[in-house]
This record gives sequence, C-alpha cells and structure tokens, in this order.
Amino acid sequence: MRVTMIGAGYVGLVSGACFADFGHQVTCIDKDAGRVAALNRGEIPIFEPGLADLVEANVRQGRLEFAAETARVRDADAVFIAVGTPSRRGDGHADLSFVYDAVREIAPLLSRTTVVVTKSTVPVGTGDEIEHILREKRPDADVQVVSNPEFLREGAAIRDFKHPDRIVVGTDDERARAVLAEIYRPLYLNELPIIFVTRRTAELIKYAANAFLATKITFINEIADLCERVGADVQEVARGMGLDNRIGGKFLHAGPGFGGSCFPKDATALLKTAQDHGVALRIVETVSSVNEQRKRAMARKVVTALDGSVRGKTVAVLGLTFKPNTDDMRDSPAIAVIRALQDAGATVHATDPEGIEQARLVLEDVTYFNDPYEAIAGADAIAIVTEWNAYRALDLARVRTLLTAPVFVDLRNIYTPDEVTGAGLAYYGVGR
Ligand SMILES: NC(=O)c1ccc[n+]([C@@H]2O[C@H](COP(=O)([O-])OP(=O)(O)OC[C@H]3O[C@@H](n4cnc5c(N)ncnc54)[C@H](O)[C@@H]3O)[C@@H](O)[C@H]2O)c1
Repeated sequence: MRVTMIGAGYVGLVSGACFADFGHQVTCIDKDAGRVAALNRGEIPIFEPGLADLVEANVRQGRLEFAAETARVRDADAVFIAVGTPSRRGDGHADLSFVYDAVREIAPLLSRTTVVVTKSTVPVGTGDEIEHILREKRPDADVQVVSNPEFLREGAAIRDFKHPDRIVVGTDDERARAVLAEIYRPLYLNELPIIFVTRRTAELIKYAANAFLATKITFINEIADLCERVGADVQEVARGMGLDNRIGGKFLHAGPGFGGSCFPKDATALLKTAQDHGVALRIVETVSSVNEQRKRAMARKVVTALDGSVRGKTVAVLGLTFKPNTDDMRDSPAIAVIRALQDAGATVHATDPEGIEQARLVLEDVTYFNDPYEAIAGADAIAIVTEWNAYRALDLARVRTLLTAPVFVDLRNIYTPDEVTGAGLAYYGVGR
C-alpha cells in the first residue's frame, strides 16, 4: 500500500517507520522543514529507543521517505493524519487547528478514492467535521474518513506499534475497512484483535482508555497518601490488588502524578466534550484536579524532608522527562515540582539522560548536569522524579558523601527504604 503520514512527530514518525517495515511504501510529511531536512540527513529529531535503526533500514531499502511538501499525498491509498492536538489555550478543548489545516492542505491533492485516517487523538465528532471539509472542497471525490486512534507509549513505541493489544478502526465503509485491514495485515495475520466500530465510537475509545488509565494512577496515588498516614506500604497494597486479574498490576505505581503529552490534555478534552453534551464525568473531573494538585504537593514532600524550608538550599532533581526513555517534557511532573521548589526559595540542580535540551525550553534558573553525581555534589537533598534506569543503581555511599544533608526523596519508589537508610541517608518515598 502507498501510505502518506501527515506529521512526523512521536506518533507519525514511529507509525510511518513501522508501516514501512511492514512492507508498505511510506512518505512522512511534516511542515517543519528543519525536521524534514534533519530526517533526510539521517538524524532523528526525537529520542525513542530503536527508532533510528528502524528509520535508517527502511530508508535504505527505499520504503520510507520524508518530505515537507504536501504535494506528495497525491497517489496515496491512505493518508494518515498524525499532527498534534494540544490543549487549546484558555478553555482546555482539544486544539484541532493543526488537524483541520492539514485536511484543507491535502484536500485539493487527494486522489478520488483515498482513505483519510485520523491517528491524532481527536474529540468525538471530529471525523464528521473532516468529512464535511473534504466534501465541500472535493465534491468530485469519494473520500472516506476513518478514525484509527493510536495507543503506543513513548519509550516503548515501536514494540507497542508492532505488538499492540488491539487495533481500533472506526468506519462504516466496506472499502475503507478493506484498506485499513490491508495496511495492518502483518499484525492481523497474527490474530491480533482488530476492532471495527463506528467512527464516533473509535474516537471515544481512545479518550475513555486514557481517562481510565489516568484514573488508575490517581487512585493508587490517593491510596499512597492514606498508606503514609496509617503505616502501610503502597507498593505492597498495589501488588496485593494487582494480582487480582480483574484489576491488573499495571498503572498502579504511586508517584508524583501523571504527566506527558497525552493524559492531562486528553482528560481535559474529554471533560469538555462531555460538558458540551450536557454529561457530567465526575470521576474524570476529580482525577484531573487531584492530579494537578499532586504535582506541587510532591515539592512539599521535599520541603518537609528538609525540616520545613528549602530557602537557600539546593535540591538535586534526578529525571526531568515525564517518563523514562523519552526526551518528551510536555506536562512533565518535574516542571511543577521544580517550579514549586523554586517558589519556596530552593536552588535547583537537574539532570536527565535525554531531556535537558527540551527542559531548557520550559524551565528557568535551573543548573543542568549530564552526570547525576555532579548534580548531587553540594546539594542538600536529592529528589528522584523520573525512574530512568540510570538512577536505579546509584552508588548510595557516594551520594551520601556528596550531599550536604542526607535527604533522599524517591518520588518513584525505585529504592527500598532499607538500602537507602543503610547508606546513612534519610529515605522519603511515596506511600510507604
Ligand atoms: N505522543 C504519544 O505518545 C501519543 C500516543 C498516542 C496518541 N497521540 C496523539 O497523536 C497526535 C500526535 O502526537 P505527537 O506526540 O506525535 O505530536 P508531535 O507534536 O510530536 O508531532 C506533530 C507533528 O506534526 C507536524 N505538523 C503539524 N501540522 C502539520 C501539517 N499541517 N502538515 C504536516 N505536518 C504538520 C508538526 O510539525 C509535528 O512535527 C496527538 O493527537 C496525540 O494526542 C500521541
């Protein structure tokens, strides 16, 4: 199949490279000419494990190419839209301007029977609007608009794309179904569940799934708070709960709250959709607000550990990205934690294996270090905010000698209290 991907970001680039790897002929188009030029030089603009090799192999074999001109959509069997849908400033609705701009740009170029597929996360009804635009601009064409939401996780994106739990395809049209089934055939052959639903249902599945996962995280975070009060260990509570198949152990890790480019904005956008339709989603509302408050509350944990004041003190923050194995800083809890520490008068040293470049764009007055031990040297406390593997086996004796005060705040519970206290440090975890 000839596939065009509009947007070569985290989702577009990974999806495009994986489709090419399935054997399809793929063109990734991005309006960011610098990004396209970098890709054409063999440079990958984002950090995603395995992506550089996958892109390189498929470019070399002639199945994957990059372009800045939309003109390349002309002979595609399917055009996927994978542009951003961030929160709209001011009201929290999903900002669909990138999606609609892309649709208007491709409309005059589409072949008469192309299938247009939204991979971007878009509110219920967006497919209807895209169809409306296309019918208006191309009354001559029989273009089908399909919803095919993406569930990959940054940091494990290629594995997720190639071994998804399910593929959701939203369309009522037989021909469009056949095109999508053919594109995903390498996965389909392995009897992977491919669910064909209506377009609106597909659009809602994505938001409902994200809101549910966000709820699980927030639930265990609140249980963690209770654990701290009653002397229980949230790690063990989560394990005891998660072994129940009806619950499952995933997304039950207490921590500094969820962040990232999807959960926060998607929860808000879902609430806005519900409000527009006169429906109250009280659970999602609560999850959103509890999570927002939690991020700054984690900074208070550090303040409390430092005897109630961080004024004039230095905190070494380990981990900036919203999760390990990505360079993505969008809505990372580290932003709120660091700003709250700075508001309380702290000096912040920070380190991250991949996120420093992006962090510089959002945070001010932070001193960055590539080496965690250099970040820790002379600090009064260490706060682990992202659970990168590089921080899982710190030389704790060395950490003790480098810290001015022996305060070790582990917001991801990646150490046991015993090993940390054994090294002469005071341990502060979450919910234990
Ligand atoms: N990042 C994730 O983990 C993830 C997972 C599942 C779904 N999603 C959804 O996928 C969508 C894309 O997310 P992302 O993280 O890849 O975004 P991103 O910001 O990394 O990438 C978007 C890309 O689209 C390009 N673009 C914007 N308008 C364009 C146009 N008119 N023509 C060509 N290119 C254009 C931008 O230059 C950018 O490179 C969002 O709706 C997001 O919610 C993201």
